[in-house]
Amino acid sequence: MPTGNTAAGVRARKGEAEPLVMVTAYDAPSARAAAAAGVDVILVGDSLGMVVLGYDDTLHVTMRDMVTHTAAVARARPPQLVVADMPWTSFHLGAAGAQRNAARLVRAGAGAVKLEGGAKRLEVVRAILDLEIPVMGHLGLTPQSVHVMGGFRVQGRGTSAARAIVEDAVALSEAGCFALVLEGVPAQVAKEVTTTVPVPTFGIGAGADCDGQVLVFHDIVGWSGAQAPRFVRRYADLEGLATQAVSQWASDVRARRFPTPSETYH
Ligand code: KIV
Repeated sequence: MPTGNTAAGVRARKGEAEPLVMVTAYDAPSARAAAAAGVDVILVGDSLGMVVLGYDDTLHVTMRDMVTHTAAVARARPPQLVVADMPWTSFHLGAAGAQRNAARLVRAGAGAVKLEGGAKRLEVVRAILDLEIPVMGHLGLTPQSVHVMGGFRVQGRGTSAARAIVEDAVALSEAGCFALVLEGVPAQVAKEVTTTVPVPTFGIGAGADCDGQVLVFHDIVGWSGAQAPRFVRRYADLEGLATQAVSQWASDVRARRFPTPSETYH
């Protein structure tokens, strides 16, 4: 069953036996599917840049994109908490700008925002919380740091890198984040964070010991190209089904089997 549609409801489920479930959605149809599937949280991730808009990274995603797609998800009226990602540069240029951008996402329909980064983002996290907007943190492989990381690489390998992630997680939870995403980190690091912080962790490529799991909608349904990372499990081949459906329709048109009289206004 989905958790109540508040950040506090999600926060309160820390430590429950049943893991939390979060999935991305970027438009009304994917939001309807996620809602009907009964997930706990819907994330309008800035992965939309790569998954839907065709960019090679998330750095091209703008506030305008995030507002448009958050509003599309919200118009499906999912009962779940909708979390909207703060895109690159929307929270890096000062607390006041971050507050304005977080407010735009809430006005578009989000009940919380997510932002990438650890200790150096604490001031911004506090400023957004000061506006009464719940914040979800995001640590480990943070795609907006792709150039600094030298690619989309697993983070937190080695003792000092692992310790830094645990310290960042503690700092974010103490600052007031209601949940944390742990992306692309060794399972041992995710487990250490999960047992240390008092807020739920959502893992993606972070092993089985987080409080919950998050995946990209298009990866689950098989609509994101041929190659999927090892942490993805595909449950359908929508890309194949869509290609098949369109090519059947094209053959029917070319063979004059479409439209029939019953598909025509008389
Ligand atoms: O943008 C996104 O989809 C995300 C998830 C991968 C957690 O941040």
